[in-house]
Amino acid sequence: MSTPAVVPGKFLSLEGLEGVGKTTNLEFIQETLQSAGVSVLVTREPGGTELGEALRSVLLHSQHAMQAETEMLMMAASRVEHVATVILPALASGQWVLSDRYLDASLAYQGGGREIGVQRVKDIHTLAGVTRMPDLTLLLDMPIALGRERIAVRNATDRIEAEADPFFERCRSAYLAVAKEDPVRVKVIDASKPLDIVQTKIAQILAPLLEETLLANGRSLG
Ligand code: TYD
Repeated sequence: MSTPAVVPGKFLSLEGLEGVGKTTNLEFIQETLQSAGVSVLVTREPGGTELGEALRSVLLHSQHAMQAETEMLMMAASRVEHVATVILPALASGQWVLSDRYLDASLAYQGGGREIGVQRVKDIHTLAGVTRMPDLTLLLDMPIALGRERIAVRNATDRIEAEADPFFERCRSAYLAVAKEDPVRVKVIDASKPLDIVQTKIAQILAPLLEETLLANGRSLG
């Protein structure tokens, strides 16, 4: 008897600026997938591998001054490791992957925020062989001032969180431009709405993807 072919997992990423509710909604997405019977690997960028986590600590918490291009290349280096050694193998084994940030974060923060340009950041990734984009990206969006109010209550500020408003305005514009260019993959969610409305919206976006996978696996949603 032949073994049934493995249905590859789906690759999801969650994006947004500081204070948009990424952590709470990441947990919500994870729970939604798990209660539908999906096996999901939750990971993050920068990070997700041992080397990536070491790069993360330099990127976010070191005192070294850094050129914008250095920051971009280290974000990309972390991603090269993450895709090759964690994301692609998990997807191939049938697991879903949910990444707390991915390539769009570099387009927004380094391309927009640091003014390197979205196209240059894309080109670097192509050069480095990072071509796998998520099947679905959820972009939590809200005005900068509102996100600022929310993070004001937290005390730890990392190297990037410490940037001023114009930096985050550029990041936000770049995120929204990416979403506009690729509306099938990137779904923008108004994160200024109450949490229950945000989560209803997320569940609506996930539903067709879950249904498609469960059908492919010969199961029904019940
Ligand atoms: P974040 O994901 O917000 O984690 P935490 O909730 O622990 O603060 O922090 C990661 C920071 O790194 C955030 O400021 C965005 C930034 N970043 C980039 O600038 N470029 C990238 O490519 C990625 C993945 C993150």
